[in-house]
Amino acid sequence: MKNPIFVLGSVNIDHVLNTPALPRPGETISGQGYSIFPGGKGANQAVACARLAGKTRFMACMGSDAFSDSLVQSFRETGIDTSLIEQIDGCNTGIALIFVDQQGENCIGISAEANARLTAEKVKSREADIAAAGFLLVSLETPLDGVFAAAEIARNNHTTVVLNPAPAQPLSDDLLGCIDIITPNQTEAEVLTGVAVHNFSSAEQAASVLHGKGIGTVVITMGSQGAFISDHSGTRMIDSVKVTAVDTTAAGDTFNGAMVVALAEGFPIDEAACFANGAAALSVTRNGAQASIPTRAETDQFLND
Ligand code: RIB
Ligand code: NA
Repeated sequence: MKNPIFVLGSVNIDHVLNTPALPRPGETISGQGYSIFPGGKGANQAVACARLAGKTRFMACMGSDAFSDSLVQSFRETGIDTSLIEQIDGCNTGIALIFVDQQGENCIGISAEANARLTAEKVKSREADIAAAGFLLVSLETPLDGVFAAAEIARNNHTTVVLNPAPAQPLSDDLLGCIDIITPNQTEAEVLTGVAVHNFSSAEQAASVLHGKGIGTVVITMGSQGAFISDHSGTRMIDSVKVTAVDTTAAGDTFNGAMVVALAEGFPIDEAACFANGAAALSVTRNGAQASIPTRAETDQFLND
């Protein structure tokens, strides 16, 4: 039996300023609240997996200060296997500067810091651990050659590779060819395929480009329109759950973590996306990245109401 979920990715400390609107170039805006939250796409996804009851191991690089120590401790308390988190002396943990407006929309700037140290060499030294996993969940805030190395190991060992292609960037055919399930949002889908995705038929066009690269399952998250799915059995839309957004930060990460948990439990992709929509909807009703990710009990209850 394979171990359930291996997450590889970034850890950031999020500095969040709540503002009436997102600032324009040259503009200075007064904040209505400032908070420091644990974030980073990799860490958010690992926390989502663990909080939603997935058995999760997280590989990451962080700084080695008191704040990082307490972050690792909190990952452990969430139930994450932290044995592959490296704390590097003299390095800072990754940083994100985030503006969140009154509609819950954000804009984010990041500095990789220790995340830049998650190299292909380090990833390859963990080949046996990746090969032993049922699912590999990766995103794009750590060096691409490391992500590629992990995906290649997984592909060669029948570990299902799930890529959340965020932040948006063009990717090589070699990397895309190792992916089983890809979960772009509309912007990311356009950057990867050149097709502007605004409705069902443009989502179908973008998906067919991604299938052409060898990816079996394409899930395009389309905000309030829901999640578009394209695989061997065709194309369809899984409705979103309507909520009032407070902070959309980490909604995509929550969606990915939740989807992988459900897949690891053996649910088909449509049910996994439905569960993921519910978890992501709950996360946008709350502030912060990891702070906003719901538990399994909260998600099950929310979806049953
Ligand atoms: O996806 C949300 C995350 O993006 C934030 O937590 C921030 O750290 C940035 O990486
Ligand atoms: Na949130």
